[in-house]
Amino acid sequence: MEVVILPSSKEIGALAADAIEALVRRKPNAVLGLATGSSPLPIYDELARRHDEDGLSFAEAHGFALDEYVGLPLGHYESYREVIRREFTNRVDIKPENVHGPDGTAGDILGACAAYEAAIKAAGGVDLQILGVGTDGHIGFNEPGSSLASRTRIKTLLEQTRQDNARFFSSINDVPHHVVTQGLGTIMDAKHVVLVATGVGKAAAVRDFVEGPVAAICAASVLQLHPHATILVDEAAASELKLADYYRHTYTNKPAWQGI
Ligand code: F6R
Repeated sequence: MEVVILPSSKEIGALAADAIEALVRRKPNAVLGLATGSSPLPIYDELARRHDEDGLSFAEAHGFALDEYVGLPLGHYESYREVIRREFTNRVDIKPENVHGPDGTAGDILGACAAYEAAIKAAGGVDLQILGVGTDGHIGFNEPGSSLASRTRIKTLLEQTRQDNARFFSSINDVPHHVVTQGLGTIMDAKHVVLVATGVGKAAAVRDFVEGPVAAICAASVLQLHPHATILVDEAAASELKLADYYRHTYTNKPAWQGI
């Protein structure tokens, strides 16, 4: 696990975008794993800028969303399918038919989850997965207690997560209780994971998953077992890390050719 501490979300967005740009230029039909929420927005802004100004193309790329609310009607403004479209895929040239998300409206949720796993596999697996982390340590919507080997399935949100996400809805009563999410096993299959966390509100979660034990109580800690996990944090999110100085020293002295 590589921890990179950067001054602000602007630098975080740029560094993550560098990795995605390098991937898409090397492999135009790359499969991107797309997260929603606030954390990835600087990455999407930077990729949209590079698309507009530098001709970075996603024409052959594929995208798979991490998760989706259950119970929001198709086309709901806060459904993650819509958020991904609005924040990223409508701003670049990725083909709409190449962008997929778990189906939170399916009558047969189990069947839809299995089909989603099969679609990721058929596309060749995720090359680079963008992640945020919840204040309770969730990635995707794998809440505390999630099996470290889990696959795409339905989950119940913690009240803390519903409160955290209430800012996107007019009232907490409108935040669904259920979600469909890629499992921790699904996320672990991605070839490279890039997790972004900013702000002091994420400091405890970052401390726990980076430096605490690998345990289902903190789902993101499973990333300690990933062969290529990059954690991009600002100073506030890094403020509870014991080895912060070591991470800074390591990154400062890293050979430039290595990238993240
Ligand atoms: C979103 C997702 C969640 C968020 C997490 C952090 O697709 O999977 O794990 O990444 O809840 O959300 P923000 O970035 O809004 O703090």
